[in-house]
Amino acid sequence: MRFGIKTLDEFDVRGKTVLCRVDINQPVDREKGTLKSINRIRACVPTVRELSDKGARVVLLAHQGSDIEYKNYYTTRPHAAVLSELLGREVKWIDDVCGPAARDAIRALKDGEILLLDNVRFVAEEQTLFEKKLRLSHAEQAKTLLVTKLAPLADLYVCDAFAAAHRDQPSLCGFEQLLPSAMGRLFEQEYCAVSQVMEQPERPCVFVLGGAKIADAFEMMQTVLSRGVADRILTGGLVGNIFLCAQGREIGQGSVDFILKSNYGEFIDRAKELCAQYGEKIAVPCDLAWVENGERQEAPLGAVPAHIAAVDIGAQTAAQYREVILAAGTVFVNGPMGVFEQTASEYGTKTVWQAIAETKGYSVLGGGDSITATEKYALTDRMGYICTGGGALIRFLSGEELPVVRALRHAAQRQEGDNVQ
Ligand code: 3PG
Repeated sequence: MRFGIKTLDEFDVRGKTVLCRVDINQPVDREKGTLKSINRIRACVPTVRELSDKGARVVLLAHQGSDIEYKNYYTTRPHAAVLSELLGREVKWIDDVCGPAARDAIRALKDGEILLLDNVRFVAEEQTLFEKKLRLSHAEQAKTLLVTKLAPLADLYVCDAFAAAHRDQPSLCGFEQLLPSAMGRLFEQEYCAVSQVMEQPERPCVFVLGGAKIADAFEMMQTVLSRGVADRILTGGLVGNIFLCAQGREIGQGSVDFILKSNYGEFIDRAKELCAQYGEKIAVPCDLAWVENGERQEAPLGAVPAHIAAVDIGAQTAAQYREVILAAGTVFVNGPMGVFEQTASEYGTKTVWQAIAETKGYSVLGGGDSITATEKYALTDRMGYICTGGGALIRFLSGEELPVVRALRHAAQRQEGDNVQ
């Protein structure tokens, strides 16, 4: 048991039917019907392989697409093909989630065989909009169609979907109510990495926060500063610009317009409060870069022209951040320093990412853009830990208890209680 949750070490799965929830939600090229990235599929391979090698009958549950727009949903069929290739063994797939066809396919599995069901979000109970409109307790989730149809066919539930651990939905929190439950290897690894940052960081502990996910960055900052987790926060991207605005610095009218147009004005006040309380811990850029006629331009604060829109931190800021990162014991990274996708505005992100790769400190990265930047600069193998989660990671570092962690702990307590009786 780790963190009060059972692990795969505690179960003999030979000949058992195991429902394993994975997060293989990937960007999809809808025209070609292919996946644009496969990093999450690759990350769940160890758990699936271990279960299959140990003779379990493995039933994989997964979602694809967010339901902000219904049309985002997509079948999991291409995922089965990719997983099959990565595993070097057949992964069966069925265009059903919990209907008679899916249940027959589960019953027909032999020891070691793997079956991926179609997108669990095709079942309405699993949608996050549903979650917002009608919040079901975990006990109520156990009474949903998905759980009542599939749980009787299974001996064990394994959750390997740390990236979706912030979602309170039946495929994630319902099965734990009825079945012995464990976390998979990826879940265990990710939970361990982020817990280390939050609970026992090597000092100094540095947070690199950039990008444009402002609400996330501010929640996280508030928590890690008030709990004494962060010794230093290095700001960049839109996060940095908001802090500069809060300090009354000139960042160019284009940058100010963007902040106000995006209704981020309230964060300027929050930045002022954070600076008043933790000013010496929060580093802001001392120079900025913008692009004019396709060329990169830079200036120190105070000399930034009024008409520009900043797209990157300047070289001097990048050099200062590099030194802080190289001397860090722990580095947590979420969000790039600027528009790193374009050559003229990538210098800040590239320099900072290079420093993260070089530091002897333990680094943890999360979030789509951070991972894309890591891949772009071919640094994947040089980072401490790259978390597959975006939203889940942020919620965890914002001090929230993740619903899936609560459900898995509850299952472990119940199982321990059953063993004692
Ligand atoms: C993610 O991509 O962050 C996870 O797969 C969760 O997806 P969701 O935000 O659509 O629930």
